[in-house]
Amino acid sequence: MKIFVTRKIPEAGIKLLEKAHEISVNPFDRVLTKEEIIKGLKGKDGLLCLLTDTIDKDVIKSEPNLKMIASYAVGYDNIDVQTATRLGIPVSNTPGVLTDTTAEMAWAQLFSVSRRIVEGDKFTRAGKYKGWGPMLMLGQDVSNKTLGVIGAGRIGTAFALKSKGFEMKVLYVDGRVNKTLESKLGARRVGLIELLKKSDFISIHVPLIKDTYHLISEGELKIMKNSAVLINTSRGPVVDEKSLVKALKEKWIFGAGLDVYEHEPEISKELKILDNVVLQPHSASATFETRSKMATIAAENMIAGLNDEIPPNCINPEVFEK
Ligand code: GLV
Ligand code: GLV
Repeated sequence: MKIFVTRKIPEAGIKLLEKAHEISVNPFDRVLTKEEIIKGLKGKDGLLCLLTDTIDKDVIKSEPNLKMIASYAVGYDNIDVQTATRLGIPVSNTPGVLTDTTAEMAWAQLFSVSRRIVEGDKFTRAGKYKGWGPMLMLGQDVSNKTLGVIGAGRIGTAFALKSKGFEMKVLYVDGRVNKTLESKLGARRVGLIELLKKSDFISIHVPLIKDTYHLISEGELKIMKNSAVLINTSRGPVVDEKSLVKALKEKWIFGAGLDVYEHEPEISKELKILDNVVLQPHSASATFETRSKMATIAAENMIAGLNDEIPPNCINPEVFEK
């Protein structure tokens, strides 16, 4: 069968697909426009896409032959899964393999912001370091503080578990009780307001859905401690970026670490000039090992779907019930 791959992914995935199918890969090293995706998809049976592609109704319906959509990402807010399901097209993602990798990035950001790593590096390179100073680059201690985890799914759980060595008190917000966190860390499930009030570090690990859009906005930022650090490695629109800029500028909180942005790839100009925010180019899952595994998994899902088998990471398994 024929597969369209919207961007070059690690070789491991391409090789797997090539064994059984004919594939065409976007020749450019950039995100394709919607029109280009529709054009590339013409006459294809499978679509292997990325989180930067908007796979909406128009795209899905443009190719009546389409049998499988395999995404190279864990988040799938960019795909109209409802339309795919209605048309009987399975959709898959790549959960599991990027859990620790993403959690590690959240920790990297937590330390970068608390200990002003990026700011300190810039300062030192600029020749401003003239000698040890009792008040130079003061930041926030991490050990024995309170960690607030918003969304205790796979990634949120892995992130929280890594706090063990720092002997932190852990609070979490989730629709469900997380037995692992409660038994291993003595974590406590609380409401959002309590978490915001009591946490020294807050890390967001929810998917982007209607209910999580602007979950953290002006009101929430004002509840947080002045010494608090906010980390977002989930999806940009979960945080109201305008309010965050205000909070960082006016020091309602100590700082923020961001891997994602409300209007990606655009970033508020003001964020780029603030020193109390660390910015990453949506690279939380970007390690050699993990990206290779994501490519393999996306390919395995694609192959299963084209074979009329339930893909191992099917988001809408109900399409196989009919
Ligand atoms: C990354 O943001 C992903 O969803 O895989
Ligand atoms: C710092 O370098 C110290 O010795 O206190």
